[in-house]
Amino acid sequence: MRKKIVSGNWKMNMLPQDTTEMINKLIPLVKDTKTEVMLCVPYIDINNAVLAAEGTNIKIGAQNMFYEDSGAYTGEISPKMLKSAKIDNVILGHSERRKYFHETDEDINKKVKKALETEINPIVCVGETLEERENGKAKDVVKSQVTKDLEGLSAKNLDNVTIAYEPVWAIGTGKTASKEDAEEICKFIRETINEEFGTDDITILYGGSVKDTNAKEIFSMPNIDGGLIGGASLDAEKFSKIVKAD
Ligand code: PGA
Repeated sequence: MRKKIVSGNWKMNMLPQDTTEMINKLIPLVKDTKTEVMLCVPYIDINNAVLAAEGTNIKIGAQNMFYEDSGAYTGEISPKMLKSAKIDNVILGHSERRKYFHETDEDINKKVKKALETEINPIVCVGETLEERENGKAKDVVKSQVTKDLEGLSAKNLDNVTIAYEPVWAIGTGKTASKEDAEEICKFIRETINEEFGTDDITILYGGSVKDTNAKEIFSMPNIDGGLIGGASLDAEKFSKIVKAD
C-alpha cells in the first residue's frame, strides 16, 4: 500500500541513554504530521526507543534480522526476538550489509519472507554503485535486486513491503542523486514491480544524503513516497524538518 513514510536509519550510532533523550526531543516536533515517522535503531537501543515512543506517532524499527527463529547463530537476532521487543518494522538488505557483511540477494529474500511470516514489515534496500551507474547498469542492477529480493512473494504481501532506493554512491557522501535521477529509478522500480506482481501500489522511498535542505524537492517527485535518512536522522530538529518536508 502506498503511503508517505520518513524513516531514520541510525546505523551504528547512538547509545541507549542518548536514545531516550533524542526521542523525547523529537516527539513534540513531529506529533501533528500525517507522514508515518519511523526510527530504525541499533538492537541495543530498541528497548529504550520503544519505551520512549510508546503512545506517540513514532514507530521504532530494527536495521537487520536473521531468517531463523532461534538456534546456534552466534551474534544474530531473530524475528521472534524483534517481535517480542514490540518491533514491527525492519530494514533489510541495506547496502552496508551487502558490502561489509556479504549479504546476498538470496539471504535478503529469505529474510524478507521470514519477516512477513512473522508479521514484521520489511523496508528492502536496493541501489547501484557508482561504477555500475557509470557503466550504464543502474537499472539492470536495481531490477535484478528487486526481482531476487522479492522472489516468491504475492501481490498481497506487497501491502507490507516498502522499497528504499538508495544509490550506494549517495549514501553518507553528501552527494544526493538529482531529483530527476532519483525519480527515474523509483519510477522504474514501480514499473518492475508492476510487471512482476500486477500492481504498483507499493511505497518507494529514496535514501542517500537526504537533508532538511533537499528533502522537499526530492519528496515532491511523483514516484517518491518519502525517505530513508541516515546521518540527518541523528538530530531531532533536522530529522523533524525532513519529516515535515514530505
Ligand atoms: P545517509 O544514509 O542519509 O547518511 O546518506 C542513508 C542510508 O544509508 O539509509
